[in-house]
Amino acid sequence: MLYAFELSGEHEELPRAEVLACLDIVGAVYSEHVFFDQCLVVDIDGSDEIIDKKMELMAERLSFSHHIVKVMGICDSDVDTIIEMAENSNIDDHIVAGETYVVRAKRIKHHTRIHGANLEGRVGGSIYRKGYSADMKNPDVEFRLILTERCVFGSIVASVDRSAYEARSPQKKPFFYPGVLMPRMARALVNFSKAGEGDVFFDPFCGTAGILVEAGLIGADVIGLDVQEKIIGGAQMNLEAFVPEYSLFVGDACRVPLVDGCVDAIVTDPPYGRSAAIKAESLHHLYAHSFAEMYRVLKSGRMAVVVSEQPVDGFACDAGFVVVETYLQKVHKSLTRIILVLFKE
Ligand SMILES: C[S@@+](CC[C@H](N)C(=O)[O-])C[C@H]1O[C@@H](n2cnc3c(N)ncnc32)[C@H](O)[C@@H]1O
Repeated sequence: MLYAFELSGEHEELPRAEVLACLDIVGAVYSEHVFFDQCLVVDIDGSDEIIDKKMELMAERLSFSHHIVKVMGICDSDVDTIIEMAENSNIDDHIVAGETYVVRAKRIKHHTRIHGANLEGRVGGSIYRKGYSADMKNPDVEFRLILTERCVFGSIVASVDRSAYEARSPQKKPFFYPGVLMPRMARALVNFSKAGEGDVFFDPFCGTAGILVEAGLIGADVIGLDVQEKIIGGAQMNLEAFVPEYSLFVGDACRVPLVDGCVDAIVTDPPYGRSAAIKAESLHHLYAHSFAEMYRVLKSGRMAVVVSEQPVDGFACDAGFVVVETYLQKVHKSLTRIILVLFKE
């Protein structure tokens, strides 16, 4: 069965990569069907009921997607072709007798000039003629037309609550300190690490706990370390507001107070050298020793995700990691973030 993920336009690669990571996390058996601008379509094996449950779980975890859509058809973005596809669609798998519906179109960038409201009305009409009633305000089913390079038509099975991430923005948390990752990015990094519910999750440069909060919300057992006592106090205030249980330590990421191989996933955002918050002989010493410590405490077969402003893959490889993916994110003119996804064999 085809499912489409309506992706946010925040980055060219990260939203797609996040979906693929989450499909692995929920144990979906899938193959990639097609990737359009801001829309990834995958073919997932299994019964509708089980897949729908997995999609709900995914919607709770994803941050760079808007909706997950069970696909009814894919066609050229041309009004007559779309209407014909809607007319010929078997909608019984998407709506049951007595349920109400609405049709909404989402135009992605410049890919089509189709007038969205007009198309919604015409496709809505074809569903009405199949015997269903429309309800614009409180429908049971939302049919979605994603107008990208082609038109992807289907019904929404789950949606991402993007406003929850806004509500957790750094300035709205009990303790604020500049230089923090935004919650949506922090959540995507947690997803890249493939951390699952009940996993031991570690951030050795935890700062104000932006990453730990996102990991704690997906049910991981979070452990944070930071060299500044004041910052650990702030991390505690922030975790207290969102996560029932957590462990925090004041300490040095070059000498981590954890035994070998006890951690299931690591995501961290080490200091970059511009800030005064580096507590180490040198940046070189900090990276060399902290990567070695991350490698030591991580279990074999698991992932670490590290954000930096300068290439640090040499330190990662010297420590023993395999670099699985590298993503670049332009933050502003003079700042490009490098995201390294690392694997311990
Ligand atoms: C870029 S900030 C991390 C921000 C964090 N992601 C957040 O949500 O606030 C880097 C952190 O590394 C900490 N730090 C610097 N040197 C350290 C060291 N040797 N060991 C552990 N933490 C250190 C700093 O105190 C700072 O809080």
